Amino acid sequence: MTVDPERLRIAIYPDPSLREKADPVDPTDPIVAAVARRMIDLMHEADGVGLAGPQVGLPWRLFVTNARDADLEDRAFINPHLSTGPGGMTSAEEGCLSLPGINVQVRRPEHAEITAIDLKGEKITMSADDIVGRIWQHEFDHLNGVLIIDKMSPMDRLATRKILKELKAAAAIHDAR
Ligand code: CO
Repeated sequence: MTVDPERLRIAIYPDPSLREKADPVDPTDPIVAAVARRMIDLMHEADGVGLAGPQVGLPWRLFVTNARDADLEDRAFINPHLSTGPGGMTSAEEGCLSLPGINVQVRRPEHAEITAIDLKGEKITMSADDIVGRIWQHEFDHLNGVLIIDKMSPMDRLATRKILKELKAAAAIHDAR
């Protein structure tokens, strides 16, 4: 697959790429680092804290983060492995750059550990118990085609029904053009 990083855009729900399960990438391929850098730019332009491969239409197992106050560093996680627990679960509000206007409560394990390859091609291992670990879990879900709307409460399901319908209608109009 030839990819021009400059042409990448953020996919909006219900774009089918958001439901694809992503495959591992070759971290030594320079295009992977170029795409990750472009994703970091797109994340900042959209004022987000994370962005995953499927969100730019690529079924690639990589995501980028910038947790702002909690971790100001731009980071790329290539072919990540994530584990959660031990410990409790916490609920917090999450949004998603692919789901504009949607903010829902999502319950997740408090503790997360991640290993991945970074932009320099080095193996990194990190652990977190805060928003940082929550972002990893959110972005990792994207690599398996999972979205926050799959994890929301019945109350949020009702509250977001209208806007999800509007997003689907907007996509249908776009596709018909
Ligand atoms: Co998201």
